[in-house]
Amino acid sequence: MNMDEETEKAQPKDVVWHDHGLSRDDREKLLGQKGLLLWFTGLSGSGKSTIASAFQKRLFDEKRLVYILDGDNIRHGLNSDLGFTKEERSENIRRIGEVGKLFVDAGVITIAAFISPYRKDRQEVRDKLGERFVEVYVKCSLEECEKRDTKGLYRKARSGKIGDFTGVSAPYEEPENPEIEVDTAKLDVEQSVQLICDWLEKEGLWKDESAIHERTGEEE
Ligand code: ADX
Repeated sequence: MNMDEETEKAQPKDVVWHDHGLSRDDREKLLGQKGLLLWFTGLSGSGKSTIASAFQKRLFDEKRLVYILDGDNIRHGLNSDLGFTKEERSENIRRIGEVGKLFVDAGVITIAAFISPYRKDRQEVRDKLGERFVEVYVKCSLEECEKRDTKGLYRKARSGKIGDFTGVSAPYEEPENPEIEVDTAKLDVEQSVQLICDWLEKEGLWKDESAIHERTGEEE
């Protein structure tokens, strides 16, 4: 594919971007927070969804607007047309990257929990989001995930009833430089959530106090 063809694909012909007059910044001031995409990657059964739920609850209790995009759930709707080949997984992640970008633009703290086994696919989402992308590696050995086998899928994968299963008959490429790594074989759910909160606090990412003051008219 030459450059012209590529540009034509990336920028649809005869479609012009419309600026609707309000920015992410405006919405973030209204909400008193920063839009973020926390990208949870890890093997099936590593604990992505469990930590995502507990983390969401923690943020919600702090009056933050938060939303989870979860692989198993999204595959019931938006991505119900996709299976588990390399190409279909890439498309799954590409779409979620785009949805995540919209949520971040809306000012929402967004948690995406997807195996997302390919580095290249995760990198492409990172490239779309820039500093608003936070990679969280939910680390757990295959052995441990298989021992947990909460959904009984590893057993099916080993007996050949499910093909292309991550860790068994399809690859998982570990993140090389994730912003956060939670080892769920060593940490319990609360400790994992705390680790993520501490990181966000340290980076000054999840609270935008100036925005809250502006919204409520409080003095600093
Ligand atoms: S991803 O690889 O494309 O990122 P995603 O996170 O959306 O995967 O979906 C993974 C979930 O689908 C798993 O948690 C599991 O419940 C289910 N699943 C069904 N078949 C497979 C498979 N072949 N490989 C991995 N997960 C599968």
